Amino acid sequence: MKLFLDTAEVEEIKLAAATGLIDGITTNPSLIAKSGRNFEEVVKEITTIVDGPISAEVISTETDAMLKEGRALAKIHENITVKLPMIEASMPVVKQLTAEGIKTNVTLVFSVNQALLAAKAGATFVSPFVGRLDDIGENGMNLVGDIVHLFNNYGFKTQILAASIRHPHHIYQAAEAGSHIATLPYGIFEKLFNHPLTDKGLAQFLEDWKSVPKT
Ligand code: G3P
Repeated sequence: MKLFLDTAEVEEIKLAAATGLIDGITTNPSLIAKSGRNFEEVVKEITTIVDGPISAEVISTETDAMLKEGRALAKIHENITVKLPMIEASMPVVKQLTAEGIKTNVTLVFSVNQALLAAKAGATFVSPFVGRLDDIGENGMNLVGDIVHLFNNYGFKTQILAASIRHPHHIYQAAEAGSHIATLPYGIFEKLFNHPLTDKGLAQFLEDWKSVPKT
């Protein structure tokens, strides 16, 4: 399973990218606002750090405006993926951008039917929001599994990008469900490395090494 980082903080992206384990980046208007930086400037900088799909989201909600915005975003760099909300007006945009060879990510997906429509439109990625479904008492990861099943049934090429990841369990659950990608905040990426028995074992190895005769 590929791992994308879900952030617009370039320092976090640099740290995570240094591990060689980050395959792409997702941003959204909230994350850009949180960074406090100019949208285009921050996205451009991200393209210099990570060589993989970088999602940049449109803020228009009408077809023509979204198409214009999407084309402009795609011009920033060849790795830009145009992120569009899962609304009816986005579907012709997904179809057109795909025809123009521009990658798309349909976001704010909360049902299998929404994923089906995005895949039919030819989206490169579809982003089910796992954590936000959990927040309202549903099982977000079940949605990921159901979309995997649906896409396999029909051989859709659209990749499933599990988003709104809230804790490390979500990562292995997304992998078990067969998600192509999971996008996660930096704090959760860091936690994936940790296990107390690793720390304990390493401390013991280093302690024991002290008694090994040195030449
Ligand atoms: O980037 C979209 C998604 O990952 C947002 O997550 O935590 O705001 O629900 P969250």
